[in-house]
Amino acid sequence: MPDNLINRAKKLFTPALVFHTDIIVKKAQGLYVETSDGKQYMDFSSGLATTNIGHCPPEVVKAVKKQLDEIIHSGCIFRYHSEILFAEKLKEITPGKLDMFFFSNSGAEAVEGAIKLARFATKRQGIIAYTGAFHGRTMGAVSLTTSTAKYRRNYHPLLPSIFRAPYPYCYRCFLGQNPDTCSMDCFGYLKKMLRHEINPDEVAAIIIEPVLGEGGYVVPPIHYLKELRNLCTEYGILLIADEVQTGFGRTGKWFACERFGIMPDIMTIAKGIASGFPLSAVASTKEIMSRWLPGAHGTTFGGNPVSCAAGIATIEAILKHRLLENASRVGDYALKRLIGMQKKYPVMGDVRGLGLMIGIEFVKHVPDKNPDREFLKKVLNKCYKNGLILIECGIDKNIVRFMPPLITTMEEMEKALEIFEKAVAESAARK
Ligand SMILES: Cc1ncc(COP(=O)(O)O)c(C=O)c1O
Repeated sequence: MPDNLINRAKKLFTPALVFHTDIIVKKAQGLYVETSDGKQYMDFSSGLATTNIGHCPPEVVKAVKKQLDEIIHSGCIFRYHSEILFAEKLKEITPGKLDMFFFSNSGAEAVEGAIKLARFATKRQGIIAYTGAFHGRTMGAVSLTTSTAKYRRNYHPLLPSIFRAPYPYCYRCFLGQNPDTCSMDCFGYLKKMLRHEINPDEVAAIIIEPVLGEGGYVVPPIHYLKELRNLCTEYGILLIADEVQTGFGRTGKWFACERFGIMPDIMTIAKGIASGFPLSAVASTKEIMSRWLPGAHGTTFGGNPVSCAAGIATIEAILKHRLLENASRVGDYALKRLIGMQKKYPVMGDVRGLGLMIGIEFVKHVPDKNPDREFLKKVLNKCYKNGLILIECGIDKNIVRFMPPLITTMEEMEKALEIFEKAVAESAARK
């Protein structure tokens, strides 16, 4: 029966859209998903870092049901309570002066909005993005995305005046440096770009993921982000933090830039914002937002009343159940355990992360760090057979991402770590 459904699906949907598993889920609740034949899995993918407070959280379900009886759609014709209340709640948790919003439906749409805002507000054209970044699939967003050239194939010409700086990915430095001896050459490279490629007064924005997501779960050095903030301030360049994946508690704070103590001028938020309902936001200061003139941007579905009700319930649940604290505690524990495992299994070339955003890079040999995708596949298959869903990232698809919901308990994390370690040990024994 599931096979039959999968075959039917394959006839109906474009092969361009790739699914990570062939599981057909009948019921999803909290950390767990259950198939029609009764098998249960721990979902450590969180529906691509989205079900941050678990699948079908009761508070969200209740709020959505109530909203359905009131108003489902407005299309910017009339105002409604859930949107205004949600914006007020969001304002309480967004850092610093990021207190004005534009609501849309997806991460890519928020990125589109952010770059339009930056260009409009500065009247400059240039945008600097990072090699390895993922910002989405729409034409503007994919012009900024270089997590793999596959996402850009056959779509050229893309948006013009996009420039690319190397992401501070110390384990695999783009400039071949060693983090122990380098003096942030990647930042020096960015400064050279501003002399050789585009004048700083022509750059509208620099967009960065505070922790690289799809590109490899890479945590940049804190001083890189601080220097970047200073550089943007010096030249009047707007700093856009793409917090689509890192936001809504994923790293143990509401937003990852708080972990680094930096304040962006514009922030993009999506994924965990409404527990799976389509909603995203561009957040910025009143001063910058006020430069975006009426009609310069718009939406039909953005800020949908039902999604906003889900967003309110999501924020309230995170606060009520102290889920940021839980994400830090359980995430720190997992990171320590994984670093311990790394000592036993050299195939775990690098382990890094913040909160519940942890990446483990599998390599063939330690000194030359050749990515080991085949090993990763074996590990993920074994985990999957033992009831744990994990997914990969990185251009070589050799990095496992641990991104369970923020509700994951210590016991559940320990269980997942045991399944993972067993899978690594068995795969390493067969090497
Ligand atoms: C950092 C980042 N930006 C943007 C996006 C695009 O989001 P969406 O798939 O909702 O368009 C993603 C999705 O993974 C992301 O991780």
